[in-house]
Amino acid sequence: MSEESTSTLWTVVGKAEEFAEDLGSCIEMGGEQIAIFKLSDGEWYATQNMCPHEKKMVLSRGLTGDANGEPKITCPLHKRSFSLNTGECITDNETSCLKTYPVKEEDGKVLIQFG
Ligand code: FES
Repeated sequence: MSEESTSTLWTVVGKAEEFAEDLGSCIEMGGEQIAIFKLSDGEWYATQNMCPHEKKMVLSRGLTGDANGEPKITCPLHKRSFSLNTGECITDNETSCLKTYPVKEEDGKVLIQFG
């Protein structure tokens, strides 16, 4: 796929200044809730908002952090943690992975590749 056709898949979801640092925000795209995280190191991450443990829409209200250099989100309900890079559950092997989405900031806007 060419660079040009890839870039057409990016969708603007808001202004970067509207996203609080080190906290999650929830948006809806295509009928799915997506949690977006803007970390204080300037990196952006996007995952499904639904925690796969009990299928609750809560991850945007979780705690961001670091597990041996791996950025993570910890579910506010039962504290399972997931890699923000891969979506993998890093606290147990039985909880399913999160879906992750490419996200970036460009010209003060936040863009997501969805679909
Ligand atoms: S619902 Fe997220 S860890 Fe239980």
